[in-house]
Amino acid sequence: MLVTASIPELRSALAPSRPRGAVGFVPTMGALHEGHLSLVRIAKAEAAAVVVSIFVNPLQFAPTEDLAKYPRTLDADLEQLRREGADVVFTPSAAELYPPDFSTTVHVAGASEGEEGAARPGHFVGVATVVAKLFHVVGPDVAVFGRKDLQQAAVVRRMIEDLDFPIRLIVAPISREDDGLARSSRNVYLSPDERRRAARFPRVLVSAAARIRAGEPVGATEESARRELEDAGFGVDYVEVVDPATMRRTAEARTGAALVAAVRIGKIRLLDNVLLEE
Ligand code: PAJ
Repeated sequence: MLVTASIPELRSALAPSRPRGAVGFVPTMGALHEGHLSLVRIAKAEAAAVVVSIFVNPLQFAPTEDLAKYPRTLDADLEQLRREGADVVFTPSAAELYPPDFSTTVHVAGASEGEEGAARPGHFVGVATVVAKLFHVVGPDVAVFGRKDLQQAAVVRRMIEDLDFPIRLIVAPISREDDGLARSSRNVYLSPDERRRAARFPRVLVSAAARIRAGEPVGATEESARRELEDAGFGVDYVEVVDPATMRRTAEARTGAALVAAVRIGKIRLLDNVLLEE
């Protein structure tokens, strides 16, 4: 397994005559958990060589957010990736990706504007910019993202199409803890009590999705799910049924639609979503 922080070294490692489908890529911010590893396994199954990047991208954090406190566990991450059989781990510094006069950003309109984009202004410009940059540096044939961040996947899908990246996007299922909570690097910040209460979040979404499937109108279900989450002590940022490809809200319970939500518990924000057909 090659570990490198250098773009030229990465490129030359990947250069030797690459047949199509050769390189799979999983971008991450580290603090790896089973959810990330599930993406690596999919990439291994789909591509001959797997590149994982670990980069806590300052561009996607607002000044008020937890960039400095974001968990960093590089040694444990590398150990896990070695065990999964990753071929290359790219661990650039911020200076490697963003030299002093760096001035280019990627703004994906539409899909990036509601939900997380509204709650975290500038977040998706940071995500799209770093992902575009990583795509250019790594040159993958296949990229694997998690449906845990459904809107991020929509933004990346749009960018791939708009900018003609020759990359097949795979969106992987959500990996969950035994009690249903979606795995997230930020879950370590939950107090034991918050951690226990957090398990209510996916349960409310699963039961709301079942009610929509059973014919309850979308708007009424969004409202009742919001009330249930508030009653369970969460601050609710949004609970909405959307088309996962465009992030447009939809009042129809059509196949492929997803119920997406973000809640706050203490200082932590939790994201989750359930496909209506699940
Ligand atoms: P990060 O939060 O580290 O997530 C890396 C990838 O793992 C993302 O595609 C995310 O959706 C996926 N992931 C996280 N938790 C998951 C879970 N429980 N089940 C399945 N997949 C999960 O997302 C980012 O980093 C960054 O925004 C990044 C794309 C790396 C750009 O900086």
